Amino acid sequence: MNFSIQKDSVGGGTYMAVKQRGRPLLLDPQTNKGTAFSAEERRRLRLDGLLPPAICSMSDQLRRVYDSFCAAPTDLDKYVYLAALQDRNETLFYRLLYEHIEEMLPIVYTPTVGEACQRFSHIYRRARGLYVTYDHRHQLERVLRHVDLDRVSIMVVTDGERILGLGDQGAGGMGIPIGKLCLYTLCAGVPPYNALPVMLDVGTDNRERLDDPLYLGLRHERVRGTGYQDFVDAFVSAVRAVFPGAVLQWEDFLKGNAIQQLGRFRDQLCSFNDDIQGTAAVVVAGLLASSRITGLPVQEQRVVLSGAGAAAQGIAALIVEAMTESGLQESEARSRIWCVDTGGLVVNDRPGLESFKARFARDPNEVTGFARDPEGRIQLVEVIRSVRPSVLLGASGVGGLFSKAVVRAMAASCNRPVIFALSNPTSKSECHPRDAIEWSNGQAIVATGSPFQTVEHAGKHFRIGQANNVYCFPGIGLGAIIGRLSRLSDRTFLAAAKALAEAVTPADLKQGSVYPSLKSIRECSHAVACAVIRQAAAEGACPAITADEVDNAVRRSMWFPEYLPMRHEPALFLG
Ligand code: NAI
Repeated sequence: MNFSIQKDSVGGGTYMAVKQRGRPLLLDPQTNKGTAFSAEERRRLRLDGLLPPAICSMSDQLRRVYDSFCAAPTDLDKYVYLAALQDRNETLFYRLLYEHIEEMLPIVYTPTVGEACQRFSHIYRRARGLYVTYDHRHQLERVLRHVDLDRVSIMVVTDGERILGLGDQGAGGMGIPIGKLCLYTLCAGVPPYNALPVMLDVGTDNRERLDDPLYLGLRHERVRGTGYQDFVDAFVSAVRAVFPGAVLQWEDFLKGNAIQQLGRFRDQLCSFNDDIQGTAAVVVAGLLASSRITGLPVQEQRVVLSGAGAAAQGIAALIVEAMTESGLQESEARSRIWCVDTGGLVVNDRPGLESFKARFARDPNEVTGFARDPEGRIQLVEVIRSVRPSVLLGASGVGGLFSKAVVRAMAASCNRPVIFALSNPTSKSECHPRDAIEWSNGQAIVATGSPFQTVEHAGKHFRIGQANNVYCFPGIGLGAIIGRLSRLSDRTFLAAAKALAEAVTPADLKQGSVYPSLKSIRECSHAVACAVIRQAAAEGACPAITADEVDNAVRRSMWFPEYLPMRHEPALFLG
C-alpha cells in the first residue's frame, strides 16, 4: 500500500503518511482528496499545478458528486457513476453513501447490483478485488500474494453460481462481494483497505454469458464434483497460509455448495455464510422484536416457513437455538416449526428427503386430519388453518405466494400474526405489505426482504421494516475481526440477533416496524459487533479483548470517511 495511518507523537491526532508525492497521490483512490488538498499539502506533496486552484471542502465536493449522481438517468447509470467515484476517491465515495444511505443502498446493493452483475462484462471499467480462476489451482498462494493490501482482515468470496435470485452469473458475480464489502465499510466501519472481494471462477453454465463475445470470465462450463471441491479446498489452504486470521464470508453459492463449504470450513477458520446464518440472525431479531408487540415469547411461537432452501435452513436452525436457550428441549423446539416447499408440507414419508428437511419433517400420523390436494400435497393455506401459527416466514423466492387466503388464514390464527416476506428482489416478495396489512385489517406485523414504502391503512401509517441482512453481517464481521475470533458458533448469531432486537426502539415499534431505521445502522453494527465478541469470549473463542474493553475497542476501530492530514514520509515504507 502507498500509505499508512499514523498517530502524531506530539499532538496525538491521526494523519496519513504517504510513500509518494505528485500525481500518484491523485491516481490512488485511497490517497486522493481531489480538490480538497489544502494549500500546504499541495506545496509539500508537489501537487501545485496538478489541480484547479480552488480549494474545496468535503461538503462542496459532496454537492458536486451528489448532483452528478442525481443526473445519471437510470439506476444502472447511477451504479456505474458510484463505482467510478469509488475508483477515484474512496473517502468521498463512502461519505456520499453515508450521507444518503437510504437512497444509495439500493444502488450499491440489491436490487441494482443484480443488474450490474448481469451486465458486468459490458459496464466493466477497472479491476477491483481478486479473480482466482480454476486455471490458478496449482499456484493459489502465489496469486493471493499479489494482493496489495497491508493486511486482509475480511474477504467475501463467491463462485457466482446463485447471484441473488438471478442464478449463475459466472465472473459477473464479482459485483456481489464488491457490494457486500462496501456495506461492511459503510455500515460497520471496516476499513476498506483491509477488505478483499474474491471471485472463484470455475466457469459458468449460463449460455448467454458464454455466447457473449465481451464476457470476461473463464469461457467454459462449470467445473463440478471433486475437481471443484479440490479447488475450493486448495483456495482455503492458501488463504490460511497467506492471510492468517482473515474472516471469510461465503456468498451466493448454490444451496448444496453453500451448505457443504460452511460445514467443511466453519471450524477451520473464522468463516460464515451470510445467506444462511446472517439471514437467520436478522429474522430471529425481527421475531424477538415482534414479541414486544404480541407479548408472545419466542418459545411459545408456532412458525410456518414457506420455502425450505438454504435461507430457510439457517432460519429454522436459529429459531430452534433461540427456543432452546429459552428453556425448550430441542425436539420440542423443532416441533414448533412447520416447513412447506414446492411439495407442500414437508412430511417424513416423502422419498429422498434432504437431511435438513428430514430434521423438520412432520410425522404422517400427526397430519392425518390435514386436507390434501389431488396430488396428495398439504398446501400452505391448509397448514395455516390446521396449525394456527403465530408466525409465517416466506423464503421461497416466489412473488405473490402469500395470497389473500393465506393472509386471512393467518389473521384467523391469532390476533397479531407476524408475516415476513423475505424473498428478494421486490418482484419475488411473497406479498406486498399493503396487501398483508389490508387483508388482515391492520393486524399483521409485516416485514419484507426488499424495501417498500410506508403503507397507510384506516388512517394509520405503517413503516415496513426491512428484514435485510445488512443489519447483521457488517457487525458480525466487525466483531469477528476486532475480537480475532477463531470461529463463529450458532450462539454467536443468536447473540447478534438479540443485540439487533434490542436496537429496535419503542418509536420503531409504534410505527409498525420490527427493524430499526437504516439511519441508525452504524449504532446497530456496533451493538452487534460487541454482542458477537462477548459471546465468543464466553465460549473461549476470542483471545483478543476482555469483556469490559469491548465497547471502546469496537468504537475506536470503526473507520469513518473523512480526510486526514497527509504527510510525505517515505522512510516508513522502506524494507
Ligand atoms: P433456495 O433455492 O435454496 O430455496 C428456495 C426454496 O423455496 C426451496 O426449498 C423451494 O422448494 C421453495 N419453493 C419454491 N417454490 C415454492 C412454493 N411455491 N411454495 C413453497 N416453497 C417453494 O433459495 P434461498 O437461498 O433459500 O433463498 C430463497 C429466497 O430468500 C430468495 O428469494 C432470496 O432472495 C431470499 N433471501 C432473502 C434474504 C434477506 O435478507 N431478506 C437473505 C437470503 C435469501
